[in-house]
Amino acid sequence: MGRFHACLVNPTFHLNILLFLVLASSYLSITAKSCIEEERGALLSFKQHLADPSGRLSSWVGHDCCQWEGISCDNRTGLATKIDLRNTYEDRLGGDEEWDEWAYERSRLAGKVTSSLLTLKHLSYLDLSFNNFQGIHIVCQLPTLRYLNISSASSVGESEFPKSIFNLINLQILDLSWNSFTGHFPPQLASLESLKHLDLSYNDLKDHSMLSTLRLHSNFLSGHIPRHLCNLPYLHILDLGHNNLSGTIPKCLKNLTALTFFPSHNYSDLELAEYDEIQTIIKIIMF
Ligand SMILES: *[C@@H]1O[C@H](CO)[C@@H](O)[C@H](O)[C@H]1NC(C)=O
Ligand SMILES: *[C@@H]1O[C@H](CO)[C@@H](O)[C@H](O)[C@H]1NC(C)=O
Ligand SMILES: *[C@@H]1O[C@H](CO)[C@@H](O)[C@H](O)[C@H]1NC(C)=O
Ligand SMILES: *[C@@H]1O[C@H](CO)[C@@H](O)[C@H](O)[C@H]1NC(C)=O
Ligand SMILES: *[C@@H]1O[C@H](CO)[C@@H](O)[C@H](O)[C@H]1NC(C)=O
Repeated sequence: MGRFHACLVNPTFHLNILLFLVLASSYLSITAKSCIEEERGALLSFKQHLADPSGRLSSWVGHDCCQWEGISCDNRTGLATKIDLRNTYEDRLGGDEEWDEWAYERSRLAGKVTSSLLTLKHLSYLDLSFNNFQGIHIVCQLPTLRYLNISSASSVGESEFPKSIFNLINLQILDLSWNSFTGHFPPQLASLESLKHLDLSYNDLKDHSMLSTLRLHSNFLSGHIPRHLCNLPYLHILDLGHNNLSGTIPKCLKNLTALTFFPSHNYSDLELAEYDEIQTIIKIIMF
């Protein structure tokens, strides 16, 4: 009894409790917040419309959707920020393993992308590549996206280019390759001012765009000048000034009458011979 009393009045003991409480509360506040119920429901509804023969979404059960395979949340708010459902079948093939079409087909998620995904108002990263979705254009209504990869994600017969993509003004990286999107090369892509990486390869886009002037001056475009630009038969003014482009100027741009170009990056790797050759044909304004 006496001992017990002694403890209660012991100032070190109080200090310890205090310290414990302070530590515990700060620990709780830095521990990752778990999933928001509404978002969990949205993800479950998305899953419900999918066929998943190889069980890739088998971890999508239980309360904390932030722990589910492919889902990442902001650890302060618990809001889902990333969905990565890239089909990694190919990456998982060992060196001497052969491509197994049946196994590959099984590894693909298939079905309809539902508007329930639009509940995720903080999603900045979405990778649905190498699956087989219907209605993939729904994801082009997620304006918070900065990374979108729907390479080979659209099912056969869904060929319309997802025009709503032009609303995704925060996009920095966009991969639309290996779908069978038809139509004209969409010049409106130039209005996505944050876009740094665009992949449209292996689609059925035609080159009948009437676009003759494309000005992308003062952006943060990096990497090589895309060869897709050569598919614009009427293009005669291309302004890429004040960007951060590198590499060579595609020879196929030789029909341009004006190319504005500012090598902000050190172009020591530029193949100057090729560059000179183009320069004799077109007027290159460098400033
Ligand atoms: C929360 O996320 C940040 C940045 O992603 C990370 O540095 C930090 O360690 C995370 N904290 C916890 C408790 O997971
Ligand atoms: C999109 O995903 C595919 C694999 O599914 C990958 O090869 C490609 O590099 C990705 N694109 C970008 C821009 O990250
Ligand atoms: C470039 O110009 C040449 C000659 O004027 C023409 O034959 C060719 O079709 C043009 N190429 C393109 C891509 O417009
Ligand atoms: C420009 O590109 C170089 C290399 O390609 C990179 O190191 C640099 O950070 C980029 N600058 C900007 C402003 O994006
Ligand atoms: C560009 O790089 C080359 C070789 O690396 C170097 O000699 C040259 O000084 C650099 N120029 C500038 C402007 O940095």
